[in-house]
Amino acid sequence: MAVESQAPERPGSPPLINVADYEQRARDLLAPGAWHASFGDYGDPEWETNTNNVDGFAQLYLRPRILVDVSRRDLTTRVLDVPASLPVLVAPSGLQQRWTREGELAMTRAAAAAGTIMALSTVASYSIEEIAAAAECPLFFQLYWMRERRITENLVRRAEAAGFRAVIVTVDIPGVASRERDKRYSWNLTGEEYTTVEKERILRNFRGVEPGTNVPTWATFNASVDDSVTWRDLEWLRMITTLPIVIKGLQTAEDARLCAEHGIDGIVVSNHGGFALDGSRATVAALPEVVDAAGASIEVYLDGGVRRGTDVLKALALGATAVFVGRAALWGLAVAAEDGARHVFEIIRGELDRAMAHCGVDDVKTVGADLVGAV
Ligand SMILES: Cc1cc2nc3c(=O)[nH]c(=O)nc-3n(C[C@H](O)[C@H](O)[C@H](O)COP(=O)(O)O)c2cc1C
Repeated sequence: MAVESQAPERPGSPPLINVADYEQRARDLLAPGAWHASFGDYGDPEWETNTNNVDGFAQLYLRPRILVDVSRRDLTTRVLDVPASLPVLVAPSGLQQRWTREGELAMTRAAAAAGTIMALSTVASYSIEEIAAAAECPLFFQLYWMRERRITENLVRRAEAAGFRAVIVTVDIPGVASRERDKRYSWNLTGEEYTTVEKERILRNFRGVEPGTNVPTWATFNASVDDSVTWRDLEWLRMITTLPIVIKGLQTAEDARLCAEHGIDGIVVSNHGGFALDGSRATVAALPEVVDAAGASIEVYLDGGVRRGTDVLKALALGATAVFVGRAALWGLAVAAEDGARHVFEIIRGELDRAMAHCGVDDVKTVGADLVGAV
């Protein structure tokens, strides 16, 4: 049984018992521009897909089995053969210095304490090398595929050289992102909305990438992501790295079949936490068709809307090997840096462990589809 870490309490503030408490506390602490641009409220019409993700879990119910010996429960798993103490990983998210000065460094410490794997964003505030030198948790590298092929190659080769264990290629933001909320709420990375951001940490991974390359700025970043990339380009990626390749941002059986044809190692069923396309379904609703089509040779993961241990269990029942959490971990970071993120993982671990006991499940690796039904 996991020992739950202490909540980083503040006198006079409501207790931090679940992820929703962290959400509320983070919302209270952050400037409105930062909150609405990065997270959004549940139910906000400009964050429709984020709301769908959360609702997707509510529309599934658990079918607990009784009189099963659940006195020993095993939450450990392997993701691309990398061990994790629970099937909940840190999703890649950019510029974590927005939430606490030590940004991704603090997150790696929380991931290490939780015994899990962290994915580092291309647009992290600490570089591939800085993170590799400091991290005590296993690392995956999230790649934004840049128009300038030499930059893409540079990032992948550096991640492999630094000991990262997989490349996660994010494919759901092909160079454009409609961000009505960015226009509605003013924010500036080095303004009062983000008092912890140091200018020199913005796009840290692109510093001195290669002479003569077109290094993006934060403002030109979206336009610098290559929107012409197709399945054929993945063959090039396969040639330049021996790391497992994971596709992140896939929602259909058709694309899962293409992953199988192209020798992809893993899929993250994801809609980027609702950042990309408003109007797509909950990731947990897309999960079953992707799992079916991907076949046994590809591990399938899910992210989007995971706020509870029971959400994790539902995703596992529908065939996910593990889930990634974005917002939940970031709210932890925003509320109490490393301690907050670590506590969020312990909350989810405790909830998952209890849900397993109540459902007659003793091992996260053998959760069956009969554990869930649709409302
Ligand atoms: C503030 C923020 C920044 C993000 N930055 C990235 C990023 O740099 N690369 C990426 O692939 N996904 C990014 N994501 C998406 C997450 O990896 C993940 O898909 C999403 O957060 C999952 O949904 P959840 O927040 O409901 O857990 C970001 C998400 C958030 C909330």
